[in-house]
Amino acid sequence: MNTVKTKTGQRLAYFLSAGDADKPPILFVHGFPLDHRTWSGVTATSRIEIKVDLPGFGNSELPVGEGSMEAYAAALADLLDDLAAQKAILCGHSMGGYVCLETLSRYPDRVAGLALVGSQPLADTPAKIEDRRALITRLQSVGISAVEGMAEKLGFGGVGHELFYQIIGDQSPAAAVFATQAMMGRVDHTRELLEANIPKLVVHGAKDEMVPFNAYPRELRDHGVRVEILQQVGHSPMVERPRTFSTLLSAWLNDRF
Ligand code: MLT
Repeated sequence: MNTVKTKTGQRLAYFLSAGDADKPPILFVHGFPLDHRTWSGVTATSRIEIKVDLPGFGNSELPVGEGSMEAYAAALADLLDDLAAQKAILCGHSMGGYVCLETLSRYPDRVAGLALVGSQPLADTPAKIEDRRALITRLQSVGISAVEGMAEKLGFGGVGHELFYQIIGDQSPAAAVFATQAMMGRVDHTRELLEANIPKLVVHGAKDEMVPFNAYPRELRDHGVRVEILQQVGHSPMVERPRTFSTLLSAWLNDRF
């Protein structure tokens, strides 16, 4: 494990694997309420791989104050600064994809490419915001067990539930509250996704019920986005089908970088 101190003074943990230093590194960003371990089955991109624990999750410390996508994006920029990486390819799962889109919007010069996995660019609906408020109340009253039930739903048919259960159980309720606040306050990044002139990849499970694919705009492919839909896969392709996911990702990286 490596750590960096963010500009707001917290420890940010990340895991680094060796690779070709002449190519832009790839930075993997996990979803809610998880950590870097969700990417453990992903291998074989010949470049430097960085798997981060978002602020508050895994081994990273939680910043003070309300959760925001801005805080997460700033932490990723601090991490790239520490690694002296001007640009990275960002690969985000679900909430991690929201963080990558926020990073693209705030720090476009730091993003060499974008891969969204079980994610989407829209903001929350009013009904979703109400659900999130209720979740915050439950997290504050019963703790992380308020989200343990997600372990069954993150993979289609419960695939990966043991790993998810273990990861979720290791997280602090305060980190989950911060992340929930960040998700409910996020803005629509459809325009940035469509207009960014960088290689873009969307990987989505056909059986994803947590973040439906139809939240993407229809003209996704017309804007240069490579779209890979995996049959019999739910919300977490990299855990449910690690080899297929790794092959798709490597093919895209080899083609486009
Ligand atoms: C995730 O899997 O990261 C979250 O469930 C996404 C969300 O709640 O919008």
